[in-house]
Amino acid sequence: MLAIIGGSGLTQLANLNVIRREVMRTPYGEPSGALTFGQLCEHPVVFLARHGYGHTIPPHRVNYQANLWALREAKADAIISVASVGGIRDDLGPGVLVVPDQIIDYTWGRKSTFHESSEQPVVHIDFTRPYDEVVRQRILAAAVAAGQPVVNGGVYAATQGPRLETAAEINRLERDGADVVGMTGMPEAALARELGIPYAAINVVANFAAGRGNSAAQICFGSIDVVLREAMGRVREVLEHICEGPAK
Ligand code: HPA
Repeated sequence: MLAIIGGSGLTQLANLNVIRREVMRTPYGEPSGALTFGQLCEHPVVFLARHGYGHTIPPHRVNYQANLWALREAKADAIISVASVGGIRDDLGPGVLVVPDQIIDYTWGRKSTFHESSEQPVVHIDFTRPYDEVVRQRILAAAVAAGQPVVNGGVYAATQGPRLETAAEINRLERDGADVVGMTGMPEAALARELGIPYAAINVVANFAAGRGNSAAQICFGSIDVVLREAMGRVREVLEHICEGPAK
């Protein structure tokens, strides 16, 4: 079953035909909210709002371990993460959709592994390609089918938040090779890999990152809401087309 983790601007899927909601408990605590099981174009889908259904959980307080564990318990065999980002590159302005292919992790102090026990042998996962290429291609094909332009590839920088970055920090991220910046991509992607669940992301550029484009002097929160509302409509269309094809 396909799992969708929705971020800011996507706390529910309007086109999801809801069958049931389930509050899950995990050895890692409670997920951000109940899992919503439903059908998208007659295909089974499970949806989880990363920040809670009332959008009350900030990026550094999300229980990523519980979220991923609950999705595994729900038999998710692929995860699509939807997350808003700031655009660092000139061509990645507000409203652009990006399917990233790399990550740089600047977060700290988050529970970023399921392998914490000192009684178990040390476990390392391969993370050379942090996103699953099959899921990435499914997203790209769905975007083509939906007639929605998306940028294929990009380096996602995961920052700690919840504050936005300084202009100098964004300059540094750019020197490091980052194209977009967000606060929730890690450890989510790594935990999915640890559980062996193929995972990829759709990033929605909500604003130019600090010091860039129309965020040169400051970031305007009013326009972020407007951008996200419009762009998430396009994300929903892409998601509908992902669910086309043989049911799983
Ligand atoms: N920085 C970090 N995370 C974000 C941004 C940003 O500019 N916009 C949306 N999420």
